[in-house]
Amino acid sequence: MVIQWYPGHMAKAKRQVTEQLKKVDVVFELVDARIPYSSRNPMIDEVIQQKPRVIILNKKDMANLKELEKWQSYFSAQGNFPVTVDAKHGKGLKQVEQAAIQATEDKFAKEREKGLKPRAIRAMIVGIPNVGKSTLINKLANRAIAKTGNTPGVTKQQQWIKIGKSLQLLDTPGILWPKFEDQLVGKKLSITGAIKDSIVHLDEVAIYGLEFLKQHDYEGLKKHYNIEVAIDAENLEWFDAIGRRRGLLQRGNEVDYEAVIELIINEIRNAKIGTYTFDVFKEIERDYFE
Ligand code: G4P
Repeated sequence: MVIQWYPGHMAKAKRQVTEQLKKVDVVFELVDARIPYSSRNPMIDEVIQQKPRVIILNKKDMANLKELEKWQSYFSAQGNFPVTVDAKHGKGLKQVEQAAIQATEDKFAKEREKGLKPRAIRAMIVGIPNVGKSTLINKLANRAIAKTGNTPGVTKQQQWIKIGKSLQLLDTPGILWPKFEDQLVGKKLSITGAIKDSIVHLDEVAIYGLEFLKQHDYEGLKKHYNIEVAIDAENLEWFDAIGRRRGLLQRGNEVDYEAVIELIINEIRNAKIGTYTFDVFKEIERDYFE
């Protein structure tokens, strides 16, 4: 389902999530491990404020693990508790409870000092659409609870799901809007499938993907399509080679560029060519962090 975000709509989502946050001890901020910067809500710090935060880098099965180590170091240095998971295949889920325990250690130590009874840690998941919130909730709960589908903000009737020995998770995630302003971020959101409609032109998305692969996995790219094209050749030459190799032709033996664009986007989006993290830490640090 495609969500259209409007200012009023965004304010409402923020208000709802802020309200729900009052009920929890720790926030699970879910991001896509392929774009750990670009898949964050632009106001996330303002929304979460000082609450302990576990940053869950999901879809690690499709990401570059070396890059993820750098992102984890960065998030740790910011005082957060990062973990990498693959919710779809149920990998790394045990770390989530562990991280929640670590993130709330101080808070519960204080409660103990005050003589309060031990209790479960309460958590909720927050993130932009399509990062895998419902998939993760269902896997953690070991059953189908969260509907895959999107309602901005949070839906009304909520329940706590017991996870492991010490955790209770709200069964409905907080849904916040993605970054809109930055063209490059838009292309990354599109190539990873966070945004499926075309706020960015698909030819630009395909070209972005092709350029990224040429730069980061030239050999893998050529091997995948079984083509030999110079790294500095025009994009059209690449499209032609891929189209001809895959038989994506129109009448008159012309390459069907629309089909090639669709193919490239789908194959990158589904990690058919390789596993990449498009938010290369060094580049993001240089371009976005002070
Ligand atoms: P949301 O609640 O945050 O909006 O996301 P949702 O769980 O609906 O997941 C969005 C898509 O991402 C789903 O694919 C889901 O299967 C996929 N996904 C979630 N976690 C992971 C993961 O760790 N690894 C991989 N590879 N994929 C993941 P879909 O194409 O929309 O549906 P389907 O193909 O699973 O039916």
